[in-house]
Amino acid sequence: MHIDPQERNYIVITIALVVIFATAILVSAFAYDIQVPVPYAEVNPNEVATPGISPWGDPLDERVRELAPNKYEAYILAQTWAFLPNRITIPKGSTITFYVTSKDVQHGFIIADTNINMMVIPGQVSTLTATFDKAGEYHFVCNEYCGVGHQTMFGTIIVEE
Ligand code: CUA
Repeated sequence: MHIDPQERNYIVITIALVVIFATAILVSAFAYDIQVPVPYAEVNPNEVATPGISPWGDPLDERVRELAPNKYEAYILAQTWAFLPNRITIPKGSTITFYVTSKDVQHGFIIADTNINMMVIPGQVSTLTATFDKAGEYHFVCNEYCGVGHQTMFGTIIVEE
């Protein structure tokens, strides 16, 4: 079969690009430990903040729960335009699972210096887990534009020695 040399060059370049992109995805997935959030559960966004029937309606200081030594779970409600709670304190070395949902519009949840980055969709619970081996402050923000107060949606995880 005859292939024009110029056409063959384009075929080679195209295949090389596909290989480069696939390699980049595989390297970032395994070397940087990408986590892909999956929908964990469905909730009614109109009732999700109601005290007594939902963990996102509990008092703020009860939404971060210690399940075992150095093992926590956090129920964070995203709403226009705040995260509740927006200040979480855990000891160094803790593993914490975040359950985040929205009671109004779509938000985002990304924690700097971790591999946590997920959409927060009303009616769904997004969940990911991270371990904090270094003490310090980790800031989280909303990274989906959600209205005029979008830039005020942030919080801090304080990891103590
Ligand atoms: Cu919430 Cu942007």
